[in-house]
Parts: sequence; structure tokens; C-alpha cells
Amino acid sequence: MAFPKFHSSSCALIKKYLTPGLYEQLAFLKTGTGFTLEAAIQSGLKNPDSHIGIYAGDAHTYSLFSAILDPIIHAYHSVEETFTHRPDIDQTNLSPLDPDKRFILSSRVRVARNLKEISFPCHITSQDRIQVEHLVSKAVQDMPGEGHYLPFTGLSPSRMQDLLCRKQTFPMGDRFQDAAGINRDFPDSRGIFSSLDKKFMIWVNEEDHLRVISMESSCDISRVFNRLCLGLDHLNTRLEFAFDKKYGFLTSCPTNIGTAMRAGVHIRLKKLEKNPSLLKHLVNQYHLQIRGTGGEKTSVEKGVFDISNKQRLGVSATQIIENLHAGITAILTAEKKL
Ligand code: ARG
Repeated sequence: MAFPKFHSSSCALIKKYLTPGLYEQLAFLKTGTGFTLEAAIQSGLKNPDSHIGIYAGDAHTYSLFSAILDPIIHAYHSVEETFTHRPDIDQTNLSPLDPDKRFILSSRVRVARNLKEISFPCHITSQDRIQVEHLVSKAVQDMPGEGHYLPFTGLSPSRMQDLLCRKQTFPMGDRFQDAAGINRDFPDSRGIFSSLDKKFMIWVNEEDHLRVISMESSCDISRVFNRLCLGLDHLNTRLEFAFDKKYGFLTSCPTNIGTAMRAGVHIRLKKLEKNPSLLKHLVNQYHLQIRGTGGEKTSVEKGVFDISNKQRLGVSATQIIENLHAGITAILTAEKKL
């Protein structure tokens, strides 16, 4: 392939850092499972509004293509060149953020995990995808919380749609994931484990092999996080995850490496909505990010923002929860003052 031509409007980090010299050095390399730079950047090429524009096809991608991935990782996670993953994940005991329930609608914490030695979703074979589902559904059989695993294989589109409305499935990935190859064979070998109370879930074979999620309609971020920690303790004794001392947990998207954790709240901010510069200032100060009401790349409806941590690497999971708590406290103070 000739030096890739990114769209003139693209501001993706891959476009910024991929020089012809670097390209020449990397273009003919293949990971142990055969993943290439050309495959890694397809989504960035097809989607000019990509923010980073590159995916990893397996764990080896991170070391083999470090010359291009490291600068992107530094830029996205705002870490020094000497960055390293911070592994501590201790339960927290922070006070609920909004006990009168005036602003916070729900709290959610998720981590991404991929199984060791198996290609990541953009490069996985259908055989390996079946194997991932088999291993995960076996590992959750004795999970506390009386949960059950719902496989999507064989569900009709109308049944999928019905379950989607009731939030019991996840949809096919967006155009970014599609161009990366993540949606191949959807919904085969995908599924969700959920606890009886629906506060703990595991998505199987979505953007990563596992997305482990704890959520509830409350402002008690500590309780939500601690539930996630317990679920991870169970999984850690049954599954082996793709992990690197420096990069932490290895994920499809380099924005998720490190703790692979996103912790956030859905919060109604009627006043700050009309004062976007102040909200932006507070969000940046606490290393948070804003997403729309419906999640990534959606718009904010009726003043409901999804606010979560931006950094996942170089900070520990526990620190992420503490930063989020401090940031949301500051945002609530500002909202009440206005
Ligand atoms: N590839 C997309 C981009 O570069 C995804 C960014 C992060 N989101 C995600 N779901 N991994 O903008």
C-alpha cells in the first residue's frame, strides 16, 4: 500500500503522527497473528472525524507498532514518555455525590478486558470468537448475583430490537468500529451476562472480548465501583487477560489501555448547559470528558450530560474514582451557585 492519504479535514492523531519515514519502517510488518498497519488504520482512513483513528488487532500490535502507537498514547492520555500503568484497584468509601437526587440520574463504571493469546475483535476469526464466548460464559456460571448469560446467536432482528429497547442487548458497533472490522458476523457469538438486579453486566465480543459493567440509578459511585471490583475478583481467578506492565490492560482501542476503565455519571446541569465555557474549564481541570446523553458521539438532550474520566493510563482505578468524585463535586458546586 502506498503512503495512506487521510482526508484533508481529518484531525486524527494517526494522521498527525504517521510520517512517510515511519510508514516505510512499519508498512511491511505483521504481528504474530498477521495484523498489519494497513488494517489498523482503516477506520481512521474511512472516518475523517476520527479522534485517534487506529485500532489494535492483538496484544502484539502494541509492541510491534509502538513507534506509531506511543506518540498517540502520550497525546491522548496526556502521559509523559516514561508512562507506566498503575495497577492499584482498592475499594473506595466516598460519600454519595448528590443525596437529594436533584442532579445525578445514574452512575456507571466499566472496564474492558481481552483474553490472553486471542486476537482482538477487529482481527478475530469466527472460531476464536466462539471460543471467547465459551470461556466467558463458563467463567460466569458461578458468579454471585444470580445472573444469567443471554447469547445473541440466532436471535431474529426483531427480537434483538425488542431486547435493545429494554437495554438487554448492545447494538452493532458504530461506523468507526465497522470500518475496523469489529462488526463482522454480528450478532453471532455476542451476548450479555447480567445479574438478576441488572446492576452488574458483562458484554461479550463487543469492541473488546469483555466489557465488565457496574451501574445503578444512584449517585453512589463508590458502591458502583466496589461492585465492579468484586466482579473482577471473580473473573481474575478464572480467566487470563491480555496485560502488559507498561501499557496495562490491552484493548482494541488505544484510548482504553491502562486501567481500561471509564467511570462516569449521567447528570442534569441546566445552568451549566448555558455556561459551556465554565463547564469545559471544570471538566478539563479534573481530566474528565463530556459525552452526549446517549453515549459516545451523541448530543446532549434536556441538559443531561455523561461526564466521565478521560485518562485511563498512568492513573490507578482508585485514583480515577477519586478524581471523578472531586470533579463532580466541583461541578455540582458551580451548578448550585449559578
Ligand atoms: N476510533 C474512534 C476515534 O478514533 C474511537 C475513539 C474512542 N472510542 C472508542 N469507542 N474506542 O475517534
